[in-house]
Amino acid sequence: MDSKNIEFFKEAFGVEPTYKIVTPSRVNIIGEHSDYFDNFVLSAAIENLNMKAYVKPREDDRIRILSLNLKDNEKPFFEFSTKDDRYKVQWVQYVQGAIAMYAEEYKRRSLKGFDMLIDSSIPVGGGLSSSSALTMTTLASLGVANGFTNGSTDYAPEQGVTIINTKGDDAESQDLLKKLFMMGCWAEYWYGTRGGFNDHLAITAGKKLHATLSDNREKSYQYSPIPEEITFVVCNTGVMHNQLFSEYDNRKKSAFSAINKIEQHHSEVQNARDVTSEMLEKYKDELSELEYKRLRHPITERERVFAFMEALKDKNFTKAGELLNQTHYSLRDDYEVTCDELNIMQELAIGIEGCYGARMVGGGFGGCVIALVDQEKKSDFVSKIVDSYNSHPNILPLNIGSQAWEAVSGDGIKINFIG
Ligand code: GLA
Repeated sequence: MDSKNIEFFKEAFGVEPTYKIVTPSRVNIIGEHSDYFDNFVLSAAIENLNMKAYVKPREDDRIRILSLNLKDNEKPFFEFSTKDDRYKVQWVQYVQGAIAMYAEEYKRRSLKGFDMLIDSSIPVGGGLSSSSALTMTTLASLGVANGFTNGSTDYAPEQGVTIINTKGDDAESQDLLKKLFMMGCWAEYWYGTRGGFNDHLAITAGKKLHATLSDNREKSYQYSPIPEEITFVVCNTGVMHNQLFSEYDNRKKSAFSAINKIEQHHSEVQNARDVTSEMLEKYKDELSELEYKRLRHPITERERVFAFMEALKDKNFTKAGELLNQTHYSLRDDYEVTCDELNIMQELAIGIEGCYGARMVGGGFGGCVIALVDQEKKSDFVSKIVDSYNSHPNILPLNIGSQAWEAVSGDGIKINFIG
């Protein structure tokens, strides 16, 4: 595949790429719609659904990108300058948001550009952070072209591979890692969505065979091993989840208006993280029914994250699966971010032998379901879920052909020197 892509690169840009940047996708295992409430999220980088970018740094400010995944009407080739104003093409904005944040962080007026060919296997709109992967790939490319620390080129290796996450445990490397995922998070604000930093963290700091637990208030994280007896499978509904136009902001508004009301009684309350179930019940009458439900989700979800980690540690997979199901029901009934297809997929998944539990993943309103599955039953599970979903009478022909993949947990972004 590499040699074919390198040929495409030469044809498109007339030179050879010097780097191959591999950026994983991410899946939230549990702790959904939690990051912007300062809560905890357990997620993993997925190494087998990734974005490969072949990159050649340039000496001028031009950026030329060719994507092998976009159709002709989606502008698969785009050329611009690192100084240009915002374009109306959505995917280009993800790149521009990263450029704007990099320029701000490093206080650079002029940035060197790069030529890039993208070949991605991350389903777009699947809730697996395909857009954050593009943002983080751009940041890594900018680092290769312009340097991350005082203009040096330490992240542009002249041989071998640099896995950003494992480059070093020293304070400087850790600081850079944090700077990177925070730039990714601010890029989201630049292009108009309002997520937290968790997706960018999972993609950058991911560790093979581990899940990452992020503390979204402290902006810190720790690793937790994934037991070898189980694995995760992501099942795509085929319904596109669109981050920019979703109801995401409305859900946040109702929950935050409930938080503000509780804060009137408890000045220590800054976010949903500080609200206990007891407080929620005590002030229930002051909240509208909607506000109550919207705030109940992050409170119960916080409890589930820790119960889930405990269950994995004890290898109590039945309990862990049940907690995933409860998350799904909370997202369906309290936070109301599922859709019919997600509910159908979840129900079908938990009916298949070897599946301990399942829930929708990501922002919602489409995208994927994640299922906790017995290692030994995973192949059977994948074929059964695909067959039963695609032949379900309520699934529209448009969404038939949906796929499922094992989510193999892997390391964060890798920068490979290729010549
Ligand atoms: C989107 C956002 C994330 C997170 C999830 C929901 O993916 O980008 O920051 O809020 O939704 O958990």
